[in-house]
Amino acid sequence: TNDYLRHVEPLKHVSSGAGHASHLNAVVLGESVAAEEVDFVLPSKDFAAQANVQSSEQYLEMYKRSIEDPAGFWSDIASEFYWKQRWGDKVWDENLDVRKGKIEIEWFKGGITNISYNCLDRHIEAGLGDKIAIYWEGNEPGLDGSLTYSQLRDQVCQVANYLKDIGVKKGDAVIIYLPMLMELPITMLACARIGAVHSVVFAGFSAESLAQRIIDCKPKVLITCNASKRGSKTIYLKDIVDAAINYASQNGVSIDVSLVYENPVALKRVDTKWKEGLDLWWQDVIPRYPTTCPVEWLDAEDPLFLLYTSGSTGKPKGVVHTTGGYMVYTATTFKYAFDYKPSDIYWCTADCGWITGHSYVTYGPMLNGASVLVYEGTPNYPHAGRCWDIVDKYKVTTFYTAPTLVRSLMRDGDENVTRSSRKSLRVLASVGEPINPSAWRWFYNVVGDSRCPISDTWWQTETGGFMITPLPGVWPQKPGSATYPFFGVQPVIVDEKGVELEGECSGYLCVKGSWPGAFRTLYGDHERYETTYFKPFSGYYFSGDGCRRDKDGYHWLTGRVDDVINVSGHRIGTAEVESALVSHPKCAEAAVVGVEHEVKGQGIYAFVTLVDGVPYSEELRKDLILTVRKQIGAFAAPDKIHWAPGLPKTRSGKIMRRILRKVASRQFDELGDTSTLAEPNVVNQLIELSDS
Ligand code: WT7
Repeated sequence: TNDYLRHVEPLKHVSSGAGHASHLNAVVLGESVAAEEVDFVLPSKDFAAQANVQSSEQYLEMYKRSIEDPAGFWSDIASEFYWKQRWGDKVWDENLDVRKGKIEIEWFKGGITNISYNCLDRHIEAGLGDKIAIYWEGNEPGLDGSLTYSQLRDQVCQVANYLKDIGVKKGDAVIIYLPMLMELPITMLACARIGAVHSVVFAGFSAESLAQRIIDCKPKVLITCNASKRGSKTIYLKDIVDAAINYASQNGVSIDVSLVYENPVALKRVDTKWKEGLDLWWQDVIPRYPTTCPVEWLDAEDPLFLLYTSGSTGKPKGVVHTTGGYMVYTATTFKYAFDYKPSDIYWCTADCGWITGHSYVTYGPMLNGASVLVYEGTPNYPHAGRCWDIVDKYKVTTFYTAPTLVRSLMRDGDENVTRSSRKSLRVLASVGEPINPSAWRWFYNVVGDSRCPISDTWWQTETGGFMITPLPGVWPQKPGSATYPFFGVQPVIVDEKGVELEGECSGYLCVKGSWPGAFRTLYGDHERYETTYFKPFSGYYFSGDGCRRDKDGYHWLTGRVDDVINVSGHRIGTAEVESALVSHPKCAEAAVVGVEHEVKGQGIYAFVTLVDGVPYSEELRKDLILTVRKQIGAFAAPDKIHWAPGLPKTRSGKIMRRILRKVASRQFDELGDTSTLAEPNVVNQLIELSDS
């Protein structure tokens, strides 16, 4: 047996108290959480009675099995999918020890399947061909579209046939640089159908970032569109792509084809710059291909996609996910954490350029045969109530978003929300950063009319799917807590020496053992995979997050503990921003830290020193910010540039970020020990210049 179960046992006590809750500061789902003193929102009988997991006892039972018998637990679930050939005797390596030798995680090895088949054909064969797979809502109100599962498969097959025709084979990388058009999930599923490895690059990334990814994964083909509308802005994606392809070819990596979807709402064909021999219009070639395409049967451990994410060095990491485990895990987490029902209309506001859009716009929902809403635009265009217009228009039942959006809508005022009906909403959910209790309460009270549980899902690009999340409606929720682990997940909290902490505690969040959705490697750098994630705390996967566990066993995420900052749920490496800043010829040195930001969660605060003799000016400040926008993307632009003649360093030359963080957040009285600084005086200079 596994003694880990002690970590989830407290739930039993909390829940048993829930029946006669007078001693808890609690309300029941359906009642508003007005006061800050409310600790718990207890499940309602009605919600629990219809839920996929109906009680905390049922969760504990299922959880217990998932920990004591992972092979049995996960293979029962995996059996619900279509496998051309079942996996071998070993569902996973029960003796996996991440302390030893090469770390090779495998799930369902030897099983032969295809995720695109499981997202599409399996449902169509079960009679769901006419069910809507995608509702698409354009940036401009009034512009919309939809695809049934059959229509979606037709389009996926056409793209798949095209890719095969130009020589894309199993294992080849394909870069997708598209806005939230239906063509984005279509292309992902087309790649998956033929075993090509997609690498979606968020269309907010700059030409240089895109080029960096092209150089790393060397795709034959890149799929983009000529331009897109985001709110009132037009973004000329093809110009960015052209610059990136140019830059990559100067670095020895060339692309054969750039397939361009014409998005006439944003830019007409005749106005698009064109390179004969490289560029092809999607609309000219794709419709010519047949609407059926046999799938490429893949091993469960064949790669499905890579997705770049930020780490603590300047070079983004290509996170690799494989086919079988990812399929089983995203489908299962989606089903339980959102209490999925076939009648749901599901909307996730994330872009497919991030992991959330991979696991919970495309794969997780479609593996369940769900109707997914894909929205092209921004949440506050043309007005602050757009999201709720969309919810009412499509009768959205499940709304999954990020705390930053909740906070910005909260600031715009309740009237924007309350003038809509939102009666269709049943489950709300949050991801990307800790949701602060006041945003949680507003989301619950105002958006959900105190009727909808909130699934605060903690996970990461690396984990593939949810790790810590409430199961909606079935156990007492605490505003702001991600609650308990998902099935099969064993979170542990360790101290700086790597010692596992017990009971009420606070420390570094790690995970013991493995789960099917775990990433398998970093593209082209397995050593970095092992050193970054498995070396810091021996025996565990290290998440990079801090976490507190309270007396009731609830988890409270406290943010990144490494050199990564989280801006509006976007993960940005401080080293990436620093390297962009120092690429400016007038910048000598840069140190970037995160500071609290009312809407974005964290803001980017950059300390810079300049090359000798260069004066600091407003113009230079703007120019430095522009440099970061151009090198990474607008979302990484520093909120504050703090010019300084020198940075606080130890005698060995290491920048003391601890001090910089305090200066950035103006906690001048809490600088701590500055005696080890090479030049203690620089701190005073920094403080004096902190208003400039
Ligand atoms: C980091 C992962 C996973 C999809 C979105 C971001 C933070 C994510 C939560 C949450 C507290 C959260 C963590 C994590 N994070 N969700 N519910 N509560 N923090 O994916 O870009 O890989 O970033 O986002 O710091 O490590 P990502």
